[in-house]
Amino acid sequence: MPNLDWKGKDNFRISNTNKSQPVYPFHIKELIRYPLIDNIGIHNEMIKKKMEEYQKKEVSSKEWVNCLIQGDNKDIMYSLLQIYSKKIKLIYIDPPFATGGNFEAKMFIGEEDSFEVRKAYSDSWSGGIDAYIDFLYERLILMKELLAEDGSIYVHLDWHISHYIKIIMDEIFGKENFKNEIIWAYPAASARTRKFFIRSFDTILFYTKSNDYTFNDDPNIYMEYSDRVKFALKTDDNGTYYHRGGSHNGKKLSQKVYISNKGIFPRDVWTDLPYIRANTPEYQAFSTQKPERLLKRIILASSNKNDIVADFFCGTGTTLVVAEKLGRRWIGSDIGKHAINICRKRILDVWNSNDLINWEHKYQEIPKPFRVLRINNNQQDNDIDIRFITESVQDKSKNSLFQNVKFDVKIYKDKNNVLIDLIDYSIPNVNLIKEKIKNKIKSFSDWIDSWTIDFNHRKDYFISTWISYRTLKNRRLNLTSIFHTYSKQGNYCIAVKVNDILGNEIIQEYEINIE
Ligand SMILES: C[S@@+](CC[C@H](N)C(=O)[O-])C[C@H]1O[C@@H](n2cnc3c(N)ncnc32)[C@H](O)[C@@H]1O
Repeated sequence: MPNLDWKGKDNFRISNTNKSQPVYPFHIKELIRYPLIDNIGIHNEMIKKKMEEYQKKEVSSKEWVNCLIQGDNKDIMYSLLQIYSKKIKLIYIDPPFATGGNFEAKMFIGEEDSFEVRKAYSDSWSGGIDAYIDFLYERLILMKELLAEDGSIYVHLDWHISHYIKIIMDEIFGKENFKNEIIWAYPAASARTRKFFIRSFDTILFYTKSNDYTFNDDPNIYMEYSDRVKFALKTDDNGTYYHRGGSHNGKKLSQKVYISNKGIFPRDVWTDLPYIRANTPEYQAFSTQKPERLLKRIILASSNKNDIVADFFCGTGTTLVVAEKLGRRWIGSDIGKHAINICRKRILDVWNSNDLINWEHKYQEIPKPFRVLRINNNQQDNDIDIRFITESVQDKSKNSLFQNVKFDVKIYKDKNNVLIDLIDYSIPNVNLIKEKIKNKIKSFSDWIDSWTIDFNHRKDYFISTWISYRTLKNRRLNLTSIFHTYSKQGNYCIAVKVNDILGNEIIQEYEINIE
């Protein structure tokens, strides 16, 4: 079988790297275990009741907790291999496509529609296509190790690189395990070229690990009939489609032949899944976000309830929210702090998103517990976009720029009930932030994107018990928490965590005594 060769290929072999690659530990940044989500508000009594019930549940250390991990997925996957080797049923990835460009996301400020464009991630490769292929090759090898024997992998690419990756997928997963080259076609709304045909599809390569794999003929993955077919079909009084069959009496065919209202079993060309636009309900203002309905088809077809689904380039977390809503366990990772922050809020807000089976309804369930982790691989966690900082700042001082960011709270105590007010937020080096950003800040709270409280902080990791966050559609942030009731006397540590719009995360601790 022909193999692809590229500069650097010989430098990497899974057998060598296994020995030399350190296994980094994970640092648990936060456990989100049925917190009281302030955004749900007093109006949704049903969800509030569920939240309160869940909060009383005992936690078992054996309970599965979904994982959102920040860091380079190569290090993450090496570390995951210790526990999850051959355990993941489905991997979907949507990596950078070697486009040579930078992708953008919008950073919203305060309660109004005010925003700044920030970098989402870079897709330029100083070593050219060789460097890109090498990057993906070593990661695909790790994914194969993580994939269950009856598992599947979907790799989302486009015309830039899919033909090269097809060859390395054949090498890694075996040509015999190739199942489909899925064409996801969408209208290319902004294409202006008249020099070649307009490009309007992505390619998704679907491979399995073996010939014994999960694939469900679920009516919820079916493709809708095209308008042309619908026009040719007839509907009876119940709205069921039929066409005429049987014998001809000279005027018309004698029988009504009924066909499924759910559409047709999917072909490998998907034309029924619209691209994300600003008015799509799940829009996250992140330029390469993929539609939930695309992931719905993949996850329903290639996994069952409770299976582990992973996306190691998770971006805004489309795979994770779809897995969550379809009752799968999930693991997601992304190198960008901003992407992880979007995912965290999007998963928290899942109750408010569309139900995948009845799209017209809201999902109305609270997210199952998940942890936000970071891989401790000694890499600097500096994600401040240089576009927000004045030119005078030297490269080396960027890391320390926002070290002394602080906030202030007021703690109210009434017997064993405690309530917290967030009353101030200050950035010491604020003069280094560009005027255009500062001009959009009308109050201290405009710096803040979300804040959360651990009312009984036990020093190992942060457990969110109450949380308020801004979303695109609901920009309001509650600066006053609920009253938390302590059931026992004693000294407690309260930890408060604030995430700001620049990417800073600050935790401050307070001691209180309950008599
Ligand atoms: C095309 S986007 C994914 C979009 C996602 N499918 C969605 O629906 O939002 C690719 C993502 O891969 C992430 N990424 C790039 N290199 C990475 C790496 N080495 N480790 C982890 N994530 C990485 C980027 O930060 C970016 O968010």
